[in-house]
Amino acid sequence: MRLSDCHNFKTFRALAKQRLPDPIFNYIDGAADDEVTYRRNTASYDDVDLVPNVLNDVESVDLSVEVMGQKLDMPFYCAPTALQRLFHHDGERAVAKAATKYGTMFGVSSLATVTVEDIAKLAPGPKMFQFYFHKDRGLNDALLERARAANFNVMALTVDTITGGNRERDLRTGFTSPPKLTPSSLFSFAAHPSWAWNFLTKEKFDMPHLSGHVSEGTNLAVSVGEYFSTMLDQSMNWADAEKLCAQWNGQFALKGIMSVEDAKRAVDIGCTGIMVSNHGGRQLDGARAPFDQLAEIVDAVGDQIDVICEGGVQRGTHVLKALSIGAKAVSGGRYYLYALAAAGEAGVDRALGNLRSEIERDMKLMGKTRIDQLSRDNLRWR
Ligand code: LAC
Repeated sequence: MRLSDCHNFKTFRALAKQRLPDPIFNYIDGAADDEVTYRRNTASYDDVDLVPNVLNDVESVDLSVEVMGQKLDMPFYCAPTALQRLFHHDGERAVAKAATKYGTMFGVSSLATVTVEDIAKLAPGPKMFQFYFHKDRGLNDALLERARAANFNVMALTVDTITGGNRERDLRTGFTSPPKLTPSSLFSFAAHPSWAWNFLTKEKFDMPHLSGHVSEGTNLAVSVGEYFSTMLDQSMNWADAEKLCAQWNGQFALKGIMSVEDAKRAVDIGCTGIMVSNHGGRQLDGARAPFDQLAEIVDAVGDQIDVICEGGVQRGTHVLKALSIGAKAVSGGRYYLYALAAAGEAGVDRALGNLRSEIERDMKLMGKTRIDQLSRDNLRWR
C-alpha cells in the first residue's frame, strides 16, 4: 500500500499500521477501557442525516470560518497531539507546514517533540498551544511565556487529563515515551526497519518544552498515563483556570468540556472558546460523544463563546453536520496523525487536501456556498 492509495481515514490508518511498530500504532489507535466512547465518537455522526437543497448556484464555495479570532480557510484544524516525532521523524514540523499550506490552524502540545520557536519559524499562520497544568508552577509559567514569545495565537488548557485514562493497549504493548526496548517491542521495531532507522539516526527524541524542568517523560521511559497521574496537578480547579486565562490575556480555550454547567463556567471565567471533547475516547470510557453533546452546549453558550467539536471526524460530511448544529469549527487528532505516520508532510498534506475537497464537494451537494448557511434546518435526527 502507498500514499497514492490513501483516499480516506481508513486507508491512511492502514498505511500507518503498516509503517509503525505495534506499540506506537496502538498508542495512537487505542483508547480507554473497552473503547466504547472512541467508537461512538465517529458512529454518532451516522445518527443524523443531511437534507440537501438544490438549484442554488454553488459554482464558488467559501469554506472559511473565524474561530477564537483566527480566520481559517477551512473549518477543520489539527488538534494538538503529543509526541509527533515518534510517528514520523519530521513530527510537528510536517503538520505545521501542511496546516499552513491549507490556511488552517494546528495545535502544538506541551508534550511536543519540536520547540514552539522552531514551529513559529515554519508557520506564520494561526497556532494553538496546548497547556498541561503541572504541579511545577515554574514549568507552567515557562510554558505560557514561551508560547507567548513565539507568537502563538490561542492557548488551550486541557481539563480532561486530571489522571491517566486506562489504555489497555499501552499496557499490553508496554508503550512508553521514549520507547523502551523489551523483547516484544524489539521484535516489532526490527520488523519496521525504516521507522527504526529514522528513529535511531535522525534528531534525538526529546520533549524540549519539558527539558530542564522534569526528567520524567523526557529521559525516563514512562507511559503517558503515568505522566498525567504523577506530573499534572490533580488539585487544578476553576480558580486556577481563571488565573491562567487572565495570565495569558488573549484567546483562551478549555479543551475537554462536556457539560453545559462547565461550558457556562468557561464563559464566566473569561474563556473565548471551548473544545467539546472526550480526548478521543482516551480518558473516560462511557463518556458521551462530542457530537451527541454538541447541541445542548451550543444552545446554552453558543452566542457567548466559540464552541468547537473535537473528535471522531473522518469525513467532510461529519464536519458539515457539526457545523450545522452550531460548532464554529471542528478539530481532530487521529485524522492527521495516521497520515503523518503514513508519509510525513506529504501524508498530512494529502489528508487535509482530501478533507478540504470533501467539504467543498459536500457543500455543493448540500446547495450551500458559505458555512454560515448551514443550520439545523438541514439536519434530521433518525
Ligand atoms: C494522549 C495525550 C498525551 O492522549 O494527549 O495520549
